[in-house]
Amino acid sequence: MTTRGVFRSIGAGVAAAALVATATAAGAAPDRPGEPNFSAGADGIGDPYFPLAGNGGIDVVHYDLDIHYTPPEPDPAPLEGTMDATATIELASTADLDQFNLDLRGLVAESVVVDGKPMAFTQTDNELVVTPRPKLQAGRNVTVVVEYGGTTIRPRDIENALYGWVTTRDGAMVVSEPDGSATWFPVNDHPLDKATYEFEITVPEGLVAVANGLLVGESTVDGWTTWTWDAPDPMAAYLATATVGDFVLDSYTAENGTPIIDAVDPSRPASSSANLAKTGAMLTFFEGLYGDYPFVSYGAIVDDDSVGYALETQTRSFFSRNANESTVAHELAHQWMGNHVSPAQWSDIWLNEGWATYSSWMWAEANGGTTAQQSFDNVLNISEASSYWTIVVSDPGPFGLFSSPVYTRGAATLHALRTEIGDEDFFALAKEWVVRYGGGTASTNDFRALAEEVSGQDLDQLFDVWLDTPSRPTTW
Ligand code: ARG
Ligand code: ZN
Repeated sequence: MTTRGVFRSIGAGVAAAALVATATAAGAAPDRPGEPNFSAGADGIGDPYFPLAGNGGIDVVHYDLDIHYTPPEPDPAPLEGTMDATATIELASTADLDQFNLDLRGLVAESVVVDGKPMAFTQTDNELVVTPRPKLQAGRNVTVVVEYGGTTIRPRDIENALYGWVTTRDGAMVVSEPDGSATWFPVNDHPLDKATYEFEITVPEGLVAVANGLLVGESTVDGWTTWTWDAPDPMAAYLATATVGDFVLDSYTAENGTPIIDAVDPSRPASSSANLAKTGAMLTFFEGLYGDYPFVSYGAIVDDDSVGYALETQTRSFFSRNANESTVAHELAHQWMGNHVSPAQWSDIWLNEGWATYSSWMWAEANGGTTAQQSFDNVLNISEASSYWTIVVSDPGPFGLFSSPVYTRGAATLHALRTEIGDEDFFALAKEWVVRYGGGTASTNDFRALAEEVSGQDLDQLFDVWLDTPSRPTTW
């Protein structure tokens, strides 16, 4: 049904190389040619911002998540739900492994089975540690089944923002950027390891479970409804969702042929989701800039609770209470910029947020609003003394991932680049970026190199001044 098992993208190859490099060799016997050299996979994939995110020595190809979820009791009970789940994970070993990890936080694993055999495992704060026997030689494809569950809460990220499986009165809001997927399934939780997904989410009859991709089944037995979603496009873990609640589903086909499935909480006023009607026109607009829409479907979730932000959950953007026009444009543009082409490291986040912000600037201009040039000027008009200019856009740090310069100075960087190389090269660059790195990941250096390749210009000074220097640009 899906392309699982096939490493079809540049990014997957890059990921495999990175994963091999991070398998620890501590305690391993000296290499004998042709003999396996077993060691433990690292507890992180090697991203300095989030040392425990992802893992060494494994490359997940597919997640099948079967989640049985009971939302909180009616008020005034605490906002806690109950999850009882089975994750079936197809993965390849990229090193000779006598141990490997998945990320799992706040839920308890009950059993781990590898290719049909029960395995020993332990859990620490963020890690599910599995000791496969027989040991796994590099290049093996295995199926890992984890039964797990527990009480769901309202997790928070390092900046204290809600994320992950956020329990709500009527279900859960599930938005996991950057490393929150481990709060709801065992995962190689880093964009370097994209995979395909299937979801079977069972909830009390009357509630709706909304995940990524296409809805392929809905069946009710004994007061429980199972919602089955298929997400065949390679996806970074932080973009997976399985949001549960009171929702009205609205399905239609956009002008460009993309199937749209919107899920809106009926307790919200109609005005809070009215801008979703612009989705079709926006799809056409961004296809003109970035090439064909890359995924099987699109749509939005508008919930009546809030995490304080929106997220570009792949094929199904999430909005907290209201979907305003510029945010609808921003999250849609992320499907190309951030989701199809994803950051290789979290320090590359400006490639997501700068492009999405610049996309909403262009949408506004095309619809009679503020021009991109005016938005650029507004950035440069920020006082030279402001702390805004002290963030290094290309290395904002784990606490600066979602700081405003990542968004607006990132967008201004793209506008400065466009002014420098001209519209023809700028939009050729945008399209080539998506073609070359779509399905995988790319870095700031990849972007700088491609901009120089497409334009034939030396752009070091422009990028150094805009991305790497903690002060307001004057010349570039
Ligand atoms: N990527 C999201 C957006 O710009 C924002 C996520 C913010 N996350 C957070 N933890 N503050 O649409
Ligand atoms: Zn964004």
